[in-house]
Amino acid sequence: MILVVDFGGQYNQLIARRIRDLNVYCEVVPYSKALEAVEEKKPSGIVFTGGPASVYEEGAPTIDKAIFEENIPVLGLCYGMQLMSSLLGGDVQASSEREFGKTMLDHTEHAIFNNVPTTSKVWMSHVDKVVKVPEGFSTIASTKNTEHAAIADDARKLYAFQYHPEVNHSEYGIQMLKNFVVDVCGEDQSWTMANYKETLLHDIKDKVGDGKVLLALSGGVDSSVAAALLSQAVGENLTCILVDHGLMRKNEAQEVEDAFKDSGMHFIRVDAEARFLERLQGVTDPEDKRKAIGEEFIRVFEDEGKKIGSVDYLAQGTIYPDIIESGLGDAAVIKSHHNVGGLPDVVDFKDIVEPLRMLFKDEVRALGRELGLKDYLVNRQPFPGPGLGIRVIGEVTKDKLDILRDADAIFREEIANAGLDQDINQYFAVLTNNRTVGVMGDFRTYDYTLALRAVKTSDFMTADWSRIPYDVLDTVSTRIVNEVDHINRIVYDITSKPPATIEWE
Ligand code: XMP
Repeated sequence: MILVVDFGGQYNQLIARRIRDLNVYCEVVPYSKALEAVEEKKPSGIVFTGGPASVYEEGAPTIDKAIFEENIPVLGLCYGMQLMSSLLGGDVQASSEREFGKTMLDHTEHAIFNNVPTTSKVWMSHVDKVVKVPEGFSTIASTKNTEHAAIADDARKLYAFQYHPEVNHSEYGIQMLKNFVVDVCGEDQSWTMANYKETLLHDIKDKVGDGKVLLALSGGVDSSVAAALLSQAVGENLTCILVDHGLMRKNEAQEVEDAFKDSGMHFIRVDAEARFLERLQGVTDPEDKRKAIGEEFIRVFEDEGKKIGSVDYLAQGTIYPDIIESGLGDAAVIKSHHNVGGLPDVVDFKDIVEPLRMLFKDEVRALGRELGLKDYLVNRQPFPGPGLGIRVIGEVTKDKLDILRDADAIFREEIANAGLDQDINQYFAVLTNNRTVGVMGDFRTYDYTLALRAVKTSDFMTADWSRIPYDVLDTVSTRIVNEVDHINRIVYDITSKPPATIEWE
């Protein structure tokens, strides 16, 4: 395996992701635990990530120099390069110009650049740079502004790049990572999701033992995969609670119950629609709604938890993008994600189990398939924790929710009929709070405008709107206006993310 040592940079999980995509197992550890992890896991290689600090500042994250004595190849990236250099006797200084964005890299002949053209585009994002390389190192690549853009000490197998090979803008970045992981570290690219499943099952059993675990199951891909994983790991020591908040899509709660009720775990479905609708009365601001739904969810969950008595662990299906978007650490809060942060005060629990926190959505799906989950659960598009509560704009009422549920079901059905469901990553209807005048059968109507949203994305952090064929849109529009009362106008959302987000609220 490869160990990624995290110094707080934005792209740390992406590095891990790229390495796993090369079929090499990889884990991320905080820098403070790196030496321990090296002893325990005996990685074949180590990657130091970037980070926002400056190595010469007091209190900057650092690491024991002993890590370089382990005879394990190390690749330092950005801050990781600067740290490696300063620990080994080089010199790092702030440069007068911040270098940010795409730049051309020229390299000399070196194994780490196998199959990389002599000149290629890389992505830079730094103020500090190495001005004197440590003894034993030589400079193997440069850019216009950065003389020591890549350095190497082949005898000790230490390498470092000032740029970020993990981001898409670095044209041959993945090739460079591959050269490190495969050629230098000797990994054989045989790791698969099936192995990862075994590792996760082992880790969960190790952590949880005979303890009792409680999980909130929403029926979305993430919590379903977490439920399947935990139920394989701990069997009947797992209790799953499905809080039916009345904000689910058409027939959804029933489908989830059908999928899990015979799986060996304890499954509890709570009908909490009335509580949620009452809590949402008069709430119109998107963040207030999210908070109200999140809080009510926790209250219901607590009430149920108390009935069960004490549990040892609380499990959550948090995945990696939830963590970054909710602004843990220094990133800005865009939307308060429902499943991160606010934790229920369930009687007592020792710890939280979040087995999917290292994974991106498509990796979660691959894991779900490994666990034998049914296709319709695994391929289900993402559904936000606050559910339709954030797709009914303005005040949420039962009537509006029912209108939206019917319209949304038609949209989803027609996308599937057109064979587009695997092509578009997320598609749904939004009930706007806007009413307009229409004419139906010689009568005037004054009803809601429904918006359709469909996006293509791989990571849900950026997204492009889908070019759905006009004919399909036409069928959807005709059917919805004919079959669903109180909708007389349909619009299609043609904004990408950014500047819009995928959900409307
Ligand atoms: P946005 O609207 O932020 O959404 O572009 C990105 C992805 O996240 C989903 N989403 C959520 N998922 N809890 C979740 O589990 C939430 O509170 C939440 N809010 C948005 C959204 O559907 C999209 O896939």
